[in-house]
Amino acid sequence: MKTASTIKEVRALVKEWKKEGFTIGLVPTMGFLHEGHASLIKRAHEECDRVVVSDFVNPTQFGPNEDLEAYPRDFDRDCRLCKENGADLVFHPSPDEMYHDQHTYMNIDTLSETLCGVTRPIHFRGVCTVVSKLFNIVTPDKAYFGEKDAQQLAIIRKMVIDMNFDIEIIGCPIVREADGLAKSSRNTYLTPEERKAALCLSQAVSKGKSTICKNCSSSSVINEMKSIIDAEPLAKIDYVSVVDANNMQPVEKVSNDVLVAMAVYIGKTRLIDNFSFHVEK
Ligand code: PAF
Repeated sequence: MKTASTIKEVRALVKEWKKEGFTIGLVPTMGFLHEGHASLIKRAHEECDRVVVSDFVNPTQFGPNEDLEAYPRDFDRDCRLCKENGADLVFHPSPDEMYHDQHTYMNIDTLSETLCGVTRPIHFRGVCTVVSKLFNIVTPDKAYFGEKDAQQLAIIRKMVIDMNFDIEIIGCPIVREADGLAKSSRNTYLTPEERKAALCLSQAVSKGKSTICKNCSSSSVINEMKSIIDAEPLAKIDYVSVVDANNMQPVEKVSNDVLVAMAVYIGKTRLIDNFSFHVEK
């Protein structure tokens, strides 16, 4: 497995691989990798001849009062996990390498105005900017994203269509701890007490899954889920929403495929979780 810190190095290697006729899978990450990332790398390794993992804490997707500085980093550990799971190249650029004198950013319409976009208004602009840059640098055939970031996945799928990227986007299932908590690099911020409290997210997901049905009201699902979270003293709800799976807009009734998503503060740590519900026609 190789590592590269410059765009030039990545382009040279990709050029060689393409000459050999190899297909390329890209797994974009912000590092501090866990089993959720490992599942993406493994899947890319199964489906593509060469796998590139980008490991870059992207400053443009963090708001002014968010955790950019505190975001956990451990490049050596990341490299070990990448190697074990079949990556061929880890791209680990500096912020200057990615953003030197950058004046151009992606602009996303309505899809970014709900759910996480309300509390994090510049987040998806930064995500789409860095992901489109990575797409142009690596020119992958396929790119792999986790379904835990369901709104991100929906926005990236739409960006690929709208901007004519010739890349297949693969969504991979949420990976959970044994007790249900969705794996996240941010789980590391939790104290032991908060870690226990954080279970209210996956418990709310289970409650939502058992409550939801075709043509039920969204508020009935939301209320059941909120009652679980509200019972946890360390939890503070940012949102619990039922949105149309395609356009991310809130729906009153579950008559088409929906995403049921939430963001909850456990102490100072903001965690997300979700599930999708498919409506048989
Ligand atoms: O999901 C993430 O870790 C990030 O948002 C991504 C896609 C790597 C862009 O920085």
